[in-house]
Amino acid sequence: MRKTMTMLAFALIAAAANAETIEQRIAPCLACHGEKGQSETENTPSLGGQQAPYTLIQLFMFREKLRVSEPMNEMAKPLTDDDLRLFSDFIANIPKPAPPAENGDPARMQRGQALVQQHRCDACHNPDLSGKENVPRIANQREDYLAKTLAEYKDNSRHGYDASMADVMAPIAAAQIADLAYYIARMR
Ligand code: HEC
Ligand code: HEC
Repeated sequence: MRKTMTMLAFALIAAAANAETIEQRIAPCLACHGEKGQSETENTPSLGGQQAPYTLIQLFMFREKLRVSEPMNEMAKPLTDDDLRLFSDFIANIPKPAPPAENGDPARMQRGQALVQQHRCDACHNPDLSGKENVPRIANQREDYLAKTLAEYKDNSRHGYDASMADVMAPIAAAQIADLAYYIARMR
């Protein structure tokens, strides 16, 4: 009898630990970031198809408050290192965001594309801007988030895990940030 009770208790504890699947645990995250990988929330990045090593570093930086963002510092606080890996790997496999249905204004698209070539964004972020390893996917990211985060690298309120983006942004003017964000959000 006693042995049966003990076994039952163990079974219940094991069941409780496994009660939440990764799908259930990540649901509150995707309420802000978009269930299908594409964010519909202002200034909130799409996560679909993001490079897992990049996401892992960013979640770590949010948890340690090395990257400051009110909701994200709170959300990352209780996550263990294993959780960070679990979430990053899951996010990498959500479908990548799609460009908006309508084509962009050709003059602005051309200006944005020229800036990408001039500043060699494609050398680090991949020719299709899909990213690799610790360099993020930026293709078809939300325009408002792109403009906000590029401005934050430039004024040093967003610190990358290295100085690449602060260096890249130093010679780029505000109007050019707008053209870059416009183009990258709409590229096909
Ligand atoms: C209340 C809305 C909200 C919730 C809930 C939320 N996030 Fe975020 N998340 C944001 C915002 C806003 C940003 C952009 C922060 C910034 O501007 O630097 C962000 C940024 C991120 C980034 C960085 C993406 C990039 O491209 O750099 C990752 C990764 C991320 N969140 C993952 C998560 C995970 C995992 C959870 C759940 C544990 C979560 N988020 C929950 C709003 C939210
Ligand atoms: C020398 C390599 C390099 C070059 C060149 C480069 N980037 Fe980056 N970029 C990075 C790295 C590394 C990160 C991640 C930094 C961090 O930890 O925040 C990054 C991050 C970003 C982010 C943040 C994405 C997100 O989801 O939050 C954006 C947007 C971005 N880069 C756009 C650009 C644009 C636009 C250009 C060209 C004007 C460019 N990058 C050129 C290496 C580069």
